[in-house]
Amino acid sequence: MKKITVAVVGCGRIANSAHLPALDEMDDVRVKYVCDIVKEKAEKALKDFPKAEKAITDYKIALSDEEVDAVMVLTPNYAHYTVTVDALNAGKHVFCEKPITVDYIRSKEMADIADKNGRILNIGLCNRFDSRVELLARYVAEGKLGNIYHVACSFRNFRSIPGLGGPFTTKEQSGGGVLIDWGVHFIDLILYVLGGARPLSASCCAYNGTAKDMKAYKYRTMWAEDTADVVNGTCDVEDFISGLIRTDKAGITFTGAWAQNVDKDEMWVDFLGDKGGVRLTYAGNFTFTDSATLESFTPECEKNKRYLEEDKAFIQSVRDLKKNKGNVVYALETAKIMDALYASAASGKEIKL
Ligand SMILES: NC(=O)c1ccc[n+]([C@@H]2O[C@H](COP(=O)([O-])OP(=O)(O)OC[C@H]3O[C@@H](n4cnc5c(N)ncnc54)[C@H](O)[C@@H]3O)[C@@H](O)[C@H]2O)c1
Repeated sequence: MKKITVAVVGCGRIANSAHLPALDEMDDVRVKYVCDIVKEKAEKALKDFPKAEKAITDYKIALSDEEVDAVMVLTPNYAHYTVTVDALNAGKHVFCEKPITVDYIRSKEMADIADKNGRILNIGLCNRFDSRVELLARYVAEGKLGNIYHVACSFRNFRSIPGLGGPFTTKEQSGGGVLIDWGVHFIDLILYVLGGARPLSASCCAYNGTAKDMKAYKYRTMWAEDTADVVNGTCDVEDFISGLIRTDKAGITFTGAWAQNVDKDEMWVDFLGDKGGVRLTYAGNFTFTDSATLESFTPECEKNKRYLEEDKAFIQSVRDLKKNKGNVVYALETAKIMDALYASAASGKEIKL
């Protein structure tokens, strides 16, 4: 079988912890380039991942290489659009990390450009490839929960704003705060488990005061700390969000916090059905409660490598040119909902979809 030749653009946390190790495990993939605008990061990836062949700082070198079939866009959100569109227009297939980009209009443009060029564009919504989430989706499809009338979720952590002052907390670069960063995973996971749902309206409250005085902000952990800039940087995104999404299937309510003043990390999704209910721990197992027996149990389900599975699905899609569940078309609904939630928070009104 011919190997698919890949260029990895962006050699930061998600590249090093998830995708480069996954690509290393895939015999049918060649990693011709590792690219980062920071030369040392590209060179470190070259050194750490034996499969990587060349370190570069300009992704256009990879785009002009006819051997390259596909590009993995693992940059911060602000670069997703430009790198992806350039790659698609150069005839490459693209895997782009979540969120698609900073807003719905440009997300839709990216999907349209992929279609126009007949290229695959997958988005890094890894929960769709988690074995426990897949099992839960089967439970729902088989009717084990009956009619799911509501889904409630929490993505709240204690004092852990990422990279304060850097791209994560600068709206122009990230598109938003905890909603677009963590909420995107939860909303997508819920729509996936429901087997799709048509959003009808969105209503939302947001707060961004926790780190108003960036220098005085106290924290226990700051992931992405290498990108922080509390002296000259910006923090103009929400660190707390709550909302209601009405859909044609179930109501969805959520609260999200990067830095709540409750010393607990609370990451879960509850699916409330009339025959049964489920609590899914994010990136963990779920417990099913049956209304007929009043018994609860956690089904046996081996944890898989979700990033490896999503990368394999992308490579398969590149081979057969068939859209699979990682395709951008399945991520657009979540992008549209997030835009409506932000519009609702800004206007104080419910937004019809
Ligand atoms: N799916 C998940 O579970 C998950 C988890 C973490 C991050 N992410 C997403 O992955 C993306 C990257 O996040 P991260 O935490 O790895 O960020 P990061 O800052 O650690 O890494 C991004 C890297 O991209 C490089 N870069 C920026 N612009 C570039 C360009 N034009 N060309 C080449 N390199 C460029 C930066 O120098 C940096 O090294 C974000 O969009 C984030 O939302 C997804």
